Amino acid sequence: MSPGLKQCNMIGSRRSLLLGSIRLQLQLLALLSLGRESLSREVCSGSENKLTILSNVKDHYHNLRKTYNACEVVMGNLEITFLEPHHDVSFLQSIQEVSGYVLIALNNISRIPLQNLRIIRGHRLYEDKFALVILSNYKRKRIGLTELHLQNLTEILSGTVKIMSNPQLCYLQTIHWDDILDNASASNMATHFTEKICPKCHLKCQNEACWGPGVVNCQKFTKKICADQCSGRCMGPQPSDCCHIQCAAGCTGPREHDCLACRKFSDGDTCKESCPHLFVYNTIKFQMERNPNGKYSFGSSCVEKCPHNYAVTDHGSCVRACSPGTYEVDEDKIRKCKRCEGPCPKDCSGLGVPPLKDVMSINSTNIDSFKNCTKINGNVVILEVTFNGDSYSKAAPLLLEKLEVFRTVREITG
Ligand SMILES: *[C@@H]1O[C@H](CO)[C@@H](O)[C@H](O)[C@H]1NC(C)=O
Ligand SMILES: *[C@@H]1O[C@H](CO)[C@@H](O)[C@H](O)[C@H]1NC(C)=O
Ligand SMILES: *[C@@H]1O[C@H](CO)[C@@H](O)[C@H](O)[C@H]1NC(C)=O
Ligand SMILES: *[C@@H]1O[C@H](CO)[C@@H](O)[C@H](O)[C@H]1NC(C)=O
Ligand SMILES: *[C@@H]1O[C@H](CO)[C@@H](O)[C@H](O)[C@H]1NC(C)=O
Repeated sequence: MSPGLKQCNMIGSRRSLLLGSIRLQLQLLALLSLGRESLSREVCSGSENKLTILSNVKDHYHNLRKTYNACEVVMGNLEITFLEPHHDVSFLQSIQEVSGYVLIALNNISRIPLQNLRIIRGHRLYEDKFALVILSNYKRKRIGLTELHLQNLTEILSGTVKIMSNPQLCYLQTIHWDDILDNASASNMATHFTEKICPKCHLKCQNEACWGPGVVNCQKFTKKICADQCSGRCMGPQPSDCCHIQCAAGCTGPREHDCLACRKFSDGDTCKESCPHLFVYNTIKFQMERNPNGKYSFGSSCVEKCPHNYAVTDHGSCVRACSPGTYEVDEDKIRKCKRCEGPCPKDCSGLGVPPLKDVMSINSTNIDSFKNCTKINGNVVILEVTFNGDSYSKAAPLLLEKLEVFRTVREITG
């Protein structure tokens, strides 16, 4: 399978929900299509609920399903929690890549099918440390997660592993995590395995390591077994089996388009250190020129256009929100992050507009709400009471220096 992303359906709009008193975030799927030859893998934005439940088990499951159904690349965290034995979780099989962490916790289900998950990037970590967390998956001692088939998982780029309190879980204690993790992370794992007597791995499994019964569940080795000449992953023990340095997880051949996943960026079917730059230097004319083959970076892919509701930075990457010191503008039909000249545009409410609807004048109590404003929607009223103070509304006299806040104001609508 090529790691490339061609012609896309991309999923990823966020929405905050207020449920009861808990504010939870979940990402809903919204289909949209990218420009011509960009992606062919379904992308979803994952979640960040950690161990919180969304109102009840039923809604929680439906949200999980809505978030990850048909998703191949999770641009965020994969969180699988509060599953019950009767839940159909076959939709999880589509997942191949996770850019954040994977959390599997508090489930009473016996199997979770993630057999196509190949790489966890760990761009975000659980408790600042873990890229894979398998925690407390049991109901009573007899019911709980028994097998976790991760037979294609061969790479965790950053972060380590935590496996605790899964009394029914078998096979995972045989896994050689140092083939999946880097050395430092492999020596930093937090694991505690059950004392349950588990069946042995299939006889053909290398190093007696497996994720479940049968040959299909044998652990695939792509690092420990490599020849000394290899600089990263390999597909076998021979020097000719080395993968290209841009490969992650493994490969089917020696070149940068034979990778199972890309370490940095995938541009079509090729793994690259960075996406093709948007501008290139013309050495004859001494100027920067638009590169007709330039692409934006979006997660770990190169795309011709940033997806809808993402903005473009100066560096040519797609971001959900512009960084401080820049603001969003539409330019040539592209949403861009532009550097602010002086203070960044900020709209504020003036007097006569909520929350200052019935306020008579600027005073020491409300002056701070005008900090950094460039535009005031409403009125600015300065009266004697502003400087004398007002015993009725308990506003202290305003110090003259405080009026400095209006320096940034360029427009007052009232
Ligand atoms: C799993 O079982 C425990 C113990 O009975 C229960 O507290 C928990 O709510 C169950 N989980 C789900 C997702 O129903
Ligand atoms: C996952 O592993 C199975 C069995 O080892 C293999 O047949 C399948 O092609 C793999 N899936 C992907 C997406 O590589
Ligand atoms: C990682 O550890 C293995 C065995 O402990 C060792 O052979 C290998 O050289 C180490 N790799 C790095 C990059 O330190
Ligand atoms: C002073 O500001 C506070 C907060 O906006 C407001 O409630 C109060 O009415 C103001 N006092 C006057 C005299 O405008
Ligand atoms: C105002 O802008 C300064 C400098 O950009 C920033 O440090 C500060 O946090 C801002 N204050 C508010 C209330 O927005």
